[in-house]
Amino acid sequence: MANQEAGENPIKSEGDIVTCRKLIRNAAVAAGFGMTDVTRIVTAVSELARNVYVHSGSDGVMRWEILHQPGQIGIHLEFEDYGKGIPDVDQAMEVGFTTAGTMGMGLSGVKRLMDDINIKSEVGVGTTITVEKWGRAK
Ligand SMILES: Nc1ncnc2c1ncn2[C@@H]1O[C@H](COP(=O)(O)OP(=O)(O)O)[C@@H](O)[C@H]1O
Ligand SMILES: [Mg+2]
Repeated sequence: MANQEAGENPIKSEGDIVTCRKLIRNAAVAAGFGMTDVTRIVTAVSELARNVYVHSGSDGVMRWEILHQPGQIGIHLEFEDYGKGIPDVDQAMEVGFTTAGTMGMGLSGVKRLMDDINIKSEVGVGTTITVEKWGRAK
């Protein structure tokens, strides 16, 4: 059976965060990402899935897709929730900014770990964060 190259997973519980991590670890390894990139990608998944669970006050979903370019492999991840939204996205991206008394390193960390991050958020409607990472195809 061919490796699955796209899918989605709900984010409704602590356990779903673990499932998201495992799913993306397997998909990234199968796609041919090196272990350093796999670790970066899984760390980003952890932070973004946890943010949905902890901050949104609502359910969410992770969608993922493996991308192909000549000589390159990529992964596209989307985290969507239907929660309270982020009033000031630039502020939320700052190192150390948190509304939960935690580290406030999640979003700034994800920006460093991934090649691209895009945040769309509307207060009272929800948040969609997409990230992308590219690596050399084996
Ligand atoms: N999905 C989300 N919904 C609502 N607010 C969010 C979401 N993700 C992040 N935030 C806001 O951005 C802030 C910074 O997030 P982050 O950098 O991961 O740090 P931390 O999770 O430690 O607070 C959070 O404290 C929260 O206010
Ligand atoms: Mg966080």
